[in-house]
Parts: sequence; C-alpha cells; structure tokens
Amino acid sequence: MTHRITLIPGDGIGPEVTEAAVRVLEATGLKFEWESHQAGAEAFAKYREYIPQELLQSIERTHVALKGPVTTPVAGGFTSINVELRKRFELYANFRPIRNLPHIPTRYPDVDLIIIRENTEGLYSGIEHEVVPGVVESLKIITAKASTRIARFAFEYARKNQRKKVHAIHKANIMKLSDGLFLRCSRDVAKQYPEITYGEHIVDNTCMQLVMNPYQYDMLLLENLYGDIISDLCAAFVGGLGFVPGANIGDQCAIFEAVHGSAPDIAGKNIANPTAVIRSGLLMLRHIGEFEAALKIRNALEKVYREREKLTRDVGGTAGTREFADHVIEAMESAAVTVANC
Ligand code: NAI
Repeated sequence: MTHRITLIPGDGIGPEVTEAAVRVLEATGLKFEWESHQAGAEAFAKYREYIPQELLQSIERTHVALKGPVTTPVAGGFTSINVELRKRFELYANFRPIRNLPHIPTRYPDVDLIIIRENTEGLYSGIEHEVVPGVVESLKIITAKASTRIARFAFEYARKNQRKKVHAIHKANIMKLSDGLFLRCSRDVAKQYPEITYGEHIVDNTCMQLVMNPYQYDMLLLENLYGDIISDLCAAFVGGLGFVPGANIGDQCAIFEAVHGSAPDIAGKNIANPTAVIRSGLLMLRHIGEFEAALKIRNALEKVYREREKLTRDVGGTAGTREFADHVIEAMESAAVTVANC
C-alpha cells in the first residue's frame, strides 16, 4: 500500500529538516507518494498566493500533511500560514508530547508531559484594528464550542493513554469572561472523567512551577497563546526546540510539524537538528496506523542518542542534518539485520 501524503517543506531550515524526515520515513520500508507544495513568501513569489490552491486541494485529498516551518513576518506582512492552515482545516487540537531521548544532558531527566493547545481561536484569531492613531484593539475570541471540544480531546487522550492528571492553564483572575469560559468548559468536561485528576493553575504561576518541578504535571490543557509559549518553555526540558514534535489534529485532516520555527539564524547550513520533524513523522505514522514503522524510528532515534557518535551541534555534536539522518537510517537497518539474524 502506498501512503499519499502532502509535504510542505517550508522555508528557513524547513527544506533541510523535512528532507531528513522524508528519508527516514522511507527507510522504514513503507511506500509514500509525496505531494510537495510550497507555502508562504516563496509560494507568493511563484504563484501570487501565500497558500496556493493546489496545496489546499492536496490536503483535502490526502487528509494528512507533513510540514516544515514557515517564516511569518513580524509586525506586518502576511498572516501566519500556520494559523491559516489550522483554521482552514479546523485542526483544533495541537498535540505536543514533551519527552526526553536517552543521554541528552538536560536539567530534568525522564520528563513525560503532554501539551494540548487549542489551535483555532483565542488571541490567534487575528482580529485586530486601529481604533484611532496610537490605539489598537486585538480581540481574544473564546467560544464554549471550541473550549469544550479541546477539553474533550485532552480528557479522551488521557483516558485512552492511562494518563493521570489534566491541568487547565488560565488567566481567569484577569480575563474573567474569556478565560473564565475556557475554565468552565474544562470543568464541565472534567466531571465526565472522574478517574482523571483535574487541576487549574494560573499561567504565570505555571511557568514558575514548571521550571521548579516539571514532574508535578502530567497533561497541560491550554488556550492558544499560552500553549504556544509554554511549549517552547517545555522544549528546554528535553534538549531544546530540535526535539519537540507536534500534531495539528482535526476531525477530517491532520498536519504534523515540529514546534520550532524556520530558525533563520542557522538556515541553509546543514546544521539544524531534524529530530523534531522526524518525531513529527513518527506521530504521523501512528495516525495512519503504521505502528510498527513508528516503533522502528523510535528505536533508531534512541540508539543514535544512546551511542552519541553522530549528534548535531545543538546537543554538542558535529554531525550535519544529512549525516544525522544517515545515522538514524543506519541504526534502523542494523536493527532489522539483528532481528533477521535472531
Ligand atoms: P525558531 O524556533 O525558528 O528558533 C528559535 C531558536 O531555536 C533559534 O536559535 C534556532 O536556531 C533554534 N532552533 C530552532 N529549531 C532548531 C533545530 N531544529 N535545530 C537546532 N536549533 C533550532 O523561532 P524564531 O526564531 O522565534 O522564529 C523564526 C521564524 O519561524 C518566525 O518567522 C516564526 O514566525 C516562524 N515560526 C514558524 C513556526 C511554524 O511554521 N510552525 C513555528 C514557530 C515559529
């Protein structure tokens, strides 16, 4: 069987890390047909569209995409491609597992945290206007529908995966109506899952609590902006942004991408760590039911990090992006030989 997948290489380090991930995914022995499409400034230069129609039609057809990061201009320019795609395909749940790989020196070993971020509204609704010169207004949209939907996603995940606790993270002491609604919906859903402990923490305190003791949390349920910020904070527990994968999940489609951005400071140098995108590919394999191939990649990554021979610079190695991917592929192949010889 051939899996047809939309591929968005992105820009900055995107093409380098997605190429590495595609090679690793293909080395599992599965067959893929990649429908590759540009997005963002590069797409605009070619097609006069930031998100070309062909890309949208491809996702409608394949229902699954693997995506590299896309640069978003700061304080002006076009709207974030990521936010647009998430809204367009109603990819309401952003799933980000924060887990250590072996032998990466971090402040906290054995972190195992799940971040569930609401992906379609909040301050990312992008509704802003200038009221009068010098005064702007940015609307934070919170609806009962989206808040209940994301809370249900979190608790269902917790139930199916034997997780013990869900903390809703908020600022309802200040944003009493918007975050208050998010919390009320979370509480209502939590009541239907009595076996899972439910807690609430204010977002600023959560940052401090996480840095002091990340083990006190199991799953974090957050609205859009808090989820974005806390994800980067938590990436630091497991070695940095080169390690954290992500999945944007809706009822019809899913887009898999790393938490990190296009990293313009290291783009084009073949030094980015592709682990986060490889792990995003692993999440994609699980999503399409290819559990054995996903396990092969997980084992190969763990072997590479355990051996510490060819690591990328962000974790003290000298290997380039391509060389690292070669090493993961070799680790996968040698494991296959070992199994065959048993
Ligand atoms: P960033 O995540 O691109 O980079 C932050 C720092 O982490 C940089 O020092 C970078 O070199 C490092 N880093 C990131 N990924 C790495 C990797 N795989 N290996 C080694 N080091 C890595 O965040 P930044 O600089 O704030 O954003 C750059 C651009 O990316 C912006 O235009 C932003 O809007 C965009 N962005 C796109 C995302 C997406 O497409 N999903 C997500 C986040 C940001």
